[in-house]
Amino acid sequence: MSQTYDEEELSDNVSNTKAVFSRLYGVLKPHWKTMLAAMVSIALVAITDSFYTLIQRTIIDEAILGNNRAILSQMYIYYGIIIIAQAIFVFGFVYLVGLQGERIRYDLRKMMFYHLQKLSLSYYSKTPLGWIMSRVTSDSEKMGDLLTWGIIDVTSAAMNIITAAIFMLLIEWRLALIVIASLPIMLYIAIKFRKRIYHHYRLSRKANSLMTANMNENITGVRIVKALRREEKNLDNFKVLSTNMFKSSYRAAYLSALFMPTIQTISAFTLGFVLWSGGNMVNTSFISIGSLQAFISFIMMILWPIQDIARVYAEMQNALASSERIFSLLDTQPAISDREATISIDSMRGEVVFNHVSFHYEDDDAQVIKDLSFKIPQGQNIALVGSTGGGKTTIVNLLCRFYEPTSGEILIGGINYLDYRLEDIQSRIGVVLQTPHLFSGTVMENIRYGKLEATDEQVQEAAKLAGAHEFIMSFQKGYNQNVGEGGNLLSVGQKQLISIARALLADPDIFIMDEATSSVDTLTEALIQKGMHRLMTGRTSFIIAHRLSTIKGADQIFVIDDGRITEAGNHDALMKLKGHYYRLYTQQFRHDLESEMDPFASLELNKADGAA
Ligand code: GTP
Ligand code: MG
Repeated sequence: MSQTYDEEELSDNVSNTKAVFSRLYGVLKPHWKTMLAAMVSIALVAITDSFYTLIQRTIIDEAILGNNRAILSQMYIYYGIIIIAQAIFVFGFVYLVGLQGERIRYDLRKMMFYHLQKLSLSYYSKTPLGWIMSRVTSDSEKMGDLLTWGIIDVTSAAMNIITAAIFMLLIEWRLALIVIASLPIMLYIAIKFRKRIYHHYRLSRKANSLMTANMNENITGVRIVKALRREEKNLDNFKVLSTNMFKSSYRAAYLSALFMPTIQTISAFTLGFVLWSGGNMVNTSFISIGSLQAFISFIMMILWPIQDIARVYAEMQNALASSERIFSLLDTQPAISDREATISIDSMRGEVVFNHVSFHYEDDDAQVIKDLSFKIPQGQNIALVGSTGGGKTTIVNLLCRFYEPTSGEILIGGINYLDYRLEDIQSRIGVVLQTPHLFSGTVMENIRYGKLEATDEQVQEAAKLAGAHEFIMSFQKGYNQNVGEGGNLLSVGQKQLISIARALLADPDIFIMDEATSSVDTLTEALIQKGMHRLMTGRTSFIIAHRLSTIKGADQIFVIDDGRITEAGNHDALMKLKGHYYRLYTQQFRHDLESEMDPFASLELNKADGAA
């Protein structure tokens, strides 16, 4: 993969600028009317600017030097009209560009969010979250800016230069040619400067983010830093990072300082030359004083646009890189999608069969699931147990079709599940994860995710069945209690109970649960057990089990080790086998069993351990 996850990529060459431009055009196209209106407004602002200068010329030449009061009052009226007209145009373009920018950013965020929802789990396991987030936030911001202010700034600059040039040519074409000849030189120098400044500015931003990350890590880990006596070493690291940042910021500041005087010197030379030859012309009555003054104003008028163009040009490289990253996200194909012809179903009941299923993750050739075969009749409860990294989570991920087998097939109700629609499968499977995720919002909303059209009563019913109703009612706001981001205002046990209520409301055909290993209090644990049993009855279920009661009650227990089923059968059968399960049970689950019978037993046991 050539994709880079560097936040502030410094490469200046956007690989296929042409393709990016044509796609940017595609993004802009739906809003072309607003954009055109904004461009017309900004052009009118530039034109009215030129009229100011012309009015000044008339005031100097005819009203003041020609001593004509009537013209003076006439010019004042024009002046007033132009001020009002310009105010309207300025309002128009600022409003339109703002509107346009928000629309484009909205479109981009929507497109990306929609696309991200379709991407498979494999994308998320190999793409850092921070990378995705900055595509959606800062890159869409930059791309929006390029497509609005970038275009508007360039239009405005070009219009200013063009109108000024036209008026200069009309006033005195020989002087005008001198000014026009100096334009490319100024533009060239301005662009060179801007690019250098921008380069150093980006270097310093990159250095800054490295430094911040480093600081953050060392401050949050300050205890370990002290314990390991890393202070000296960290200080050295910090010095390097900090020096880098200083150097690039210094270069940027130095170049910025040099930039203005350089441009001013060049324009001063042009101005000087114009004044000198213009002055001679006034003496020989070739040109009026007012015209010369207008001329000088026009020269001033093109100084800023040149800098604007140079700035936009320099920033454009970066905005194009942002756009390219956004398009690369939008172009990522979901690893898992519906086949051409799919069977539509509204039930996933039936036998679940794994037929010689093997699987490895995309980024790693090592087989994680190895030639796995089993058959589970409708309605059986399966417990998956085994050592860590054995492949239990991977098996249930395959069943949910978050991933697809690399070889072999999975049949549900006698049909290869690749022939079903993804949505049908995933909506008929209820999943409760080990670390349950809730969305920020109320308890009510979170349970209702299971079935969006459920009434409040149905939600409460599900919560009662799950055993969650009691603690929900103990909240100050009951079902309207906010759960916080990711549900972090609730305990793990509460989150699992809410997830169980959510699954019960969805009424799935197959139920999958990754039991929490983290300890919850015995009361909550009993509630979770009860909720789980409600979900398991009458449904095919796969529980990655850690609790003895779940395991003992299962119709079949699969011991998973190194991607294979090493033992299968119910509790009694496996105990008789005296194999892996027996050892697991005697070493690990015995404690649970004892503590289940007598809550103080494990306490005693721990004490005994401590004493030994
Ligand atoms: P526990 O949850 O710890 O009990 O383990 P488990 O049995 O659920 O194992 P799991 O299915 O999560 O992992 C099986 C193997 O797949 C392990 O060797 C993991 O390192 C590997 N694995 C899991 N997820 C990924 C992934 O996204 N990419 C890659 N390349 N390997 C993975
Ligand atoms: Mg797991």
